[in-house]
Amino acid sequence: MPDTIELRSISHHFDTARERIELFRGLSCTVRADETLAIIGPSGAGKSSLLSIAAGLEKPAGGTVCFTIGGASVDALTMRANSGFIFQQFHLMPELDAIGNLALPLRLKGHRDAFDVAARWLEKVGLKDRARHRPHQLSGGEQQRIAVARAFVTAPRFIFADEPTGNLDMHTSESVAGLMFDCARETGSGLVIVTHSKPLALRADKSLLLANGRLEPVA
Ligand SMILES: Nc1ncnc2c1ncn2[C@@H]1O[C@H](COP(=O)(O)OP(=O)(O)O)[C@@H](O)[C@H]1O
Ligand SMILES: [Mg+2]
Repeated sequence: MPDTIELRSISHHFDTARERIELFRGLSCTVRADETLAIIGPSGAGKSSLLSIAAGLEKPAGGTVCFTIGGASVDALTMRANSGFIFQQFHLMPELDAIGNLALPLRLKGHRDAFDVAARWLEKVGLKDRARHRPHQLSGGEQQRIAVARAFVTAPRFIFADEPTGNLDMHTSESVAGLMFDCARETGSGLVIVTHSKPLALRADKSLLLANGRLEPVA
């Protein structure tokens, strides 16, 4: 059985001083580590919130989320430790160079060979000659390649990408997207991508539309 995330009849809302924002109710979905899943939908539909809930970063207001890794049921903390994240704004550490950014998650986990593994990933994403560049010395596409490598470097079971190509031009988007899908298929990690781009969504094994609190297959 593959590693899975099962969202069972979850609901979520935010209360503000003036109103309650209902995101979804009775929403169910299974994410499998042996496939890639894309979620599209209008701005404000709750895509980022859904991603946070699926990754165990946030608890839904109602319903249950079950994480299964290696055949065993695990808690949100363990799920997080087995997840990698890619954001629209890259979020690299500005004071670290490219290889330092890649080595960081490994060093935090106590890997002794952090820099060797980081160097292999740097080469894999085509930036071997940018090892000593800091983020501000890299293009947006290069920064996002580093961010993709950083998400995969610890060999997580699932990667969550929230509008990963939202800050890139069309050509760069396509190459970064291709890289993400290649890495996911090669490492056997599950990939959940939230995106505004329908062409990008259609590259995934499965694509779903989140709108009006419901998840539906993309036509
Ligand atoms: N922490 C929060 N407090 C209050 N409202 C929030 C919070 N986070 C998100 N929202 C609101 O919930 C809705 C869904 O947000 P989000 O999940 O970011 O949607 P999307 O990623 O699809 O644009 C939006 O209307 C947003 O303003
Ligand atoms: Mg969002």
